[in-house]
Amino acid sequence: MSSKPVYVVFGVSGSGKSTVGKALSEKLEIPFYDADDFHPRSNVEKMANGMALNDEDREPWLQNLSKNIEQWSKDGGGVLACSALKVVYRKKLESSLYGGVEWIFLEGSYDLIFNRLTSREAHFFPKELLDSQFETLETWERGITIGIDQGISNIINEIELKLKMQKSQIGVVGLGVMGKSLAKNMLSKKFSVSVYNRHVEGKEVDIAKKFATNNSYVPKGFDDMSLFVNSLQTPKVILLMVNAGKAVDLVIEELLPLLEKGDCIIDGGNSHFKDTIRREKQLTDKGISFIGAGVSGGEEGALLGPSIMPGGTEEGYQNCKEFLEAIAAKDNSGNACCNYIGPNGSGHFVKMIHNGIEYAEMQLIAEIYHMLRYYIGKTPDEISEIFNVWRKQQKDSYLLEITANILLKKEGDQYLIDKVLDKAGQKGTGGWSTVAALELGTPLSTISEAVMARCLSAKKDERVEASKVYQITSSNTINDDLFLEELEKAFYFGSIVNHAIGFDVLKQASSDYNWNLNFSEVARVWTKGCIIRSDLMEKIVTLFGNRNDKPLLMFSEIVQILNNDLDALVNVVSKSLKMKCPLPILSASTNYFLNYTSAQMSANIIQAQRDYFGAHTYQRNDKAFGEHFHTDWKKL
Ligand code: 6PG
Repeated sequence: MSSKPVYVVFGVSGSGKSTVGKALSEKLEIPFYDADDFHPRSNVEKMANGMALNDEDREPWLQNLSKNIEQWSKDGGGVLACSALKVVYRKKLESSLYGGVEWIFLEGSYDLIFNRLTSREAHFFPKELLDSQFETLETWERGITIGIDQGISNIINEIELKLKMQKSQIGVVGLGVMGKSLAKNMLSKKFSVSVYNRHVEGKEVDIAKKFATNNSYVPKGFDDMSLFVNSLQTPKVILLMVNAGKAVDLVIEELLPLLEKGDCIIDGGNSHFKDTIRREKQLTDKGISFIGAGVSGGEEGALLGPSIMPGGTEEGYQNCKEFLEAIAAKDNSGNACCNYIGPNGSGHFVKMIHNGIEYAEMQLIAEIYHMLRYYIGKTPDEISEIFNVWRKQQKDSYLLEITANILLKKEGDQYLIDKVLDKAGQKGTGGWSTVAALELGTPLSTISEAVMARCLSAKKDERVEASKVYQITSSNTINDDLFLEELEKAFYFGSIVNHAIGFDVLKQASSDYNWNLNFSEVARVWTKGCIIRSDLMEKIVTLFGNRNDKPLLMFSEIVQILNNDLDALVNVVSKSLKMKCPLPILSASTNYFLNYTSAQMSANIIQAQRDYFGAHTYQRNDKAFGEHFHTDWKKL
């Protein structure tokens, strides 16, 4: 059986704990317990002799109750009447079931309670006893407070109503860096939040509890899934921030028996879009909405406002729109950088391509830095300054900004960047983008090149060996301001081509998967909060706003820029190659662009070769489209 809450009705003597507790237990159809029945014999004897208990006496009693509370929860819940006048007692009571105890404080004035006690006892009630109860009573920011100056049925109705109202509006599963930051973001927007983190002995212990107690906004923390779900309002909205892959399926499996039709799960991790398509179908069939939401912005973005890309059903989005749009970054007009992206896996696909673009933008900046540093001889400070100048020329981007900052960071009198090992990690989204583009049959030159550059960087030992074997020497033939001007243009050119490639994949996916994506809106969602926010992105919003179906490279404003800057790009690439400086993204952009703008490509030779060795046939440009030919090429 899944765990259920234990309700602790507390307050001073005479506040009606037993009466209210019993009535509540009948209403909820769960057992009632009186804390006084759990005292050890020594305490019972002491009390029988008219002696007051001290905190030392109470210790075994509270421990015993705490163990019982844990068991009652496992057995289906219960109601406990217990004075619990001090915070320290309450903390002990709930220590075995943190988050699973619902605190109900019975509040009444001194006079009311005194009068009740004297009439109930039908004899004189020692005033000193009640005085000391009121003196000992400590306030508690948790739980609900019920006034006892009303009839019992009203009290029970009020308890039920207040318990319902104090349920959280949203739950977050997984308190890693992103989960914690998003939960804090929600709390700062005044949402009531429950958080859950699994318990893994020795590794993940009391994570949710610590988060809840350390956070000034006081979310509810759980390591028991069913108590966590029980703490949420209906329809339940649960944001998963767990590692992409198997973990998402495991959490969904655990959640499913606890959810009802109309509830909503949001997967905010970097899940593969095909997993999201599968999960969305599986859950929609059960009447539960599943929103695959890409979330970009890292820890800071998650805390202060990320860019969010939710996909799923439109009705499902309505369930969680309020939360996602409130915590998202705001664009220049104040609108949330979050909007319904499209059906099933589209949100995660869009996030995946966001990361693909991110990979290539990072590589682009990295290779320009590398060239300036090691082939032209600039210092990190100087390169930082160059990047900052570009930023002022409407070429600003978050990635350029952070790189300019990275380059200034020193350890003692040495640049920290020089101590960072040149082996890039990757969690997979760049590679997934490449595979997805291949499946769609659409080019991904810059992005796949960036993935490959990371893969090659990982072969550090082999590279070190090869550098000794080949001992390639480079000669710097460049040292003029003109080159820096060209480099700025080449950088922007490469960035434009990279974005065009990214949006083309989105276009192809939108058509193949029937997602009906709005590219201007996707770009708008990417203008703030995310890692690839930039001046260029703002421009792209406007361009696609005019025509959604046009390739980015075909908008006249872009045509003008690229026409002007092509020579600069080609000069930079050729001069760099002459210096034997590798430029994966700038070279890929150049080749992509030159092929893209060629009416005649080299593919006629490919087709002839295929037909030559494999009789794969070819089409002719002097015959009707669709007709296939085979030639015996050997026969001249
Ligand atoms: C973001 C980032 C984020 C994460 C990447 C890093 O948009 O906030 O893209 O999702 O930093 O997953 O991926 P790699 O580890 O593969 O570089």
